[in-house]
Amino acid sequence: MEKFIIKGGRRLEGEVVISGAKNAAVAIIPAVILSDEPCVLENVPNISDVSISLRILFEMGADVKYIGKNTVRIDATGIKEPIVPYEMARHMRASYYFLGSLLGKYKCARVALPGGCYLGDRPIDQHLKAFTALGAACAIDRGMVDAQAEMLLGSQIYFDIVSVGATINAMLASVKASGLTIIENAAKEPHIVDLANFLNSMGADIMGAGTDVIKVRGVKKLKGTTYAIIPDQIEAGTYMVAAAATKGNVLIKNVIPKHLESITNKLEKIGVNVEEFDDSVRVSVDGPLVKTSIKTMPHPGFPTDMQPQISTLLTLAEGTSIITEDIFDNRFRYVDELRRMGADIKVDGHVAIIEGVGQLMGAPVTAPDLRAGAALVIAGLAAHGVTEIDDIYHIERGYEDIEEKLRALGADIVKKNIPGAAVRKAL
Ligand code: EPZ
Repeated sequence: MEKFIIKGGRRLEGEVVISGAKNAAVAIIPAVILSDEPCVLENVPNISDVSISLRILFEMGADVKYIGKNTVRIDATGIKEPIVPYEMARHMRASYYFLGSLLGKYKCARVALPGGCYLGDRPIDQHLKAFTALGAACAIDRGMVDAQAEMLLGSQIYFDIVSVGATINAMLASVKASGLTIIENAAKEPHIVDLANFLNSMGADIMGAGTDVIKVRGVKKLKGTTYAIIPDQIEAGTYMVAAAATKGNVLIKNVIPKHLESITNKLEKIGVNVEEFDDSVRVSVDGPLVKTSIKTMPHPGFPTDMQPQISTLLTLAEGTSIITEDIFDNRFRYVDELRRMGADIKVDGHVAIIEGVGQLMGAPVTAPDLRAGAALVIAGLAAHGVTEIDDIYHIERGYEDIEEKLRALGADIVKKNIPGAAVRKAL
């Protein structure tokens, strides 16, 4: 089992290049199934969620070849069986995108109920509502989701809640359906627009992605394409907060500043300087950090995926900050870990009240999920003394080369293999 060991207290300085977006990549990789020809994906982040997605394709019979560190050629035309078993799906929430893409291509899919970060109850009723509206019969049988249709017919799909995953699955399942599908109350995250752009580059007819009504006119064939995945908004936001927490000065490159607006806006309220350029932002701090209130919301609101990181920054700010988590029921699991480092945070249901303590102290902690793990890395970088973070496999699901990137910015972070740790965990 591996750990990060961080000696905190060093200002981050220099430049960091942001990788391709995890949540776009894990939608676009299954979407290749819909193509009738091979595709080349560029700017693919080298993270474990991507390896799992590619592995699933490979196990189903696709030809998957890396032709550069971040470029993959996928020929999914040889898929034999539209089945994703439990051993594959359990590692990752996004395995449910194989349902939409297999159903869209083969009119049938059998995919194990997904795993991924435990953030509270994460139902898939809206995904099944979309498939059913398109004419599929859906059932859950011994942990597997079965979806089958004689034919998929364009339809009107109204989501009861705004869901990223259900919006993506509705697009995947409808792109080759007959006629027009109208998806209402759709999610508007940048990765939804990226998936639509990818599908359109293969010959799909999708309009309105990025607004709350998406129109998909079904097409018969999709051709091969070469497509570069957008930069990761959350990885960029994480480095922005890390720069701020260490009172550093960092140029964050390969970003789309528009995607970072809600994060930039809150950082500025906290007293952080953010300078925007065409495809980079510079983050620096030259005064005190101050309290603020944050409520997580679907895009373009403040992203839930940045809530643990910015809450960590607020433990270092003056005054009382209030965080309201409106997307997931259980996204404050990092709070107990931060308390071990000296943070003063009270949680009442969906609300966390943070009393700024100015300084954190290094301690042994455990990453409970991906973004919570990133928050603990930030806490460790800013803290006095040594922080040891266990269960870093969560962090590696979503951050390419995190220790190398942080080291290049001046952080003292190493990854250590702790042979006893696995045994300790098993006891
Ligand atoms: C996506 O999860 C992201 N995952 C999450 O990224 C992100 O936190 C989340 O969107 C919100 O932005 C991927 O893109 C792979 P939702 P998803 O469906 O699609 C409820 C990260 O750290 N809901 O938008 O699972 C749900 O319980 C992560 O990178 C239903 O009730 O999120 C939640 O309360 C983790 N029924 C809300 O909607 C459904 O059928 C929003 O969830 C679907 C969702």
